[in-house]
Amino acid sequence: MALSKKMQDALNDQLQREFHSAYLYLSMSAYCSAENLPGFAKWMRLQAQEEVGHAMRIFDYLDDRAGRVVLQAVERPPSQFKSPLEVVEGVRKHEEGVTASIHKLYAIAQAEADYATQTFLHWFITEQVEEEKSTTQLAERLCMAGDNKGALLLLDREVGTRSSAE
Ligand code: FEO
Repeated sequence: MALSKKMQDALNDQLQREFHSAYLYLSMSAYCSAENLPGFAKWMRLQAQEEVGHAMRIFDYLDDRAGRVVLQAVERPPSQFKSPLEVVEGVRKHEEGVTASIHKLYAIAQAEADYATQTFLHWFITEQVEEEKSTTQLAERLCMAGDNKGALLLLDREVGTRSSAE
């Protein structure tokens, strides 16, 4: 069964969102680096790489289903942020938006009885639970650190132990 045009367009839109996430997180990484927070910079950079991986999953899926990948413009992310907390809160909110868009994709796949796309999206639905959990935890811990620079540096060291883009 071929992908419908509607499903293909929606998957291409999601492909763009994943690259936009990567671009946003890379910009956040640059900010963290400039703020002398190498741990957060590394975490954001790995997060950006992870998003490229998500985009490529969709790219490959479109290809596997004989669909057409149509790359779209990726909007410019902000380059300046008020604080590390604003950055992490931004990631958390952004991930909530990504979850909503994955759920919309799933609803289209359900409406079209496109079982292959539903199965494909299961991985993303599970992944979004993890993404929201980790970013909420990080935001809450940054909140706890408040204005305590020592706590911020300790947290920076800890988040810098992240070693893979998963
Ligand atoms: Fe691709 Fe962080 O969602």
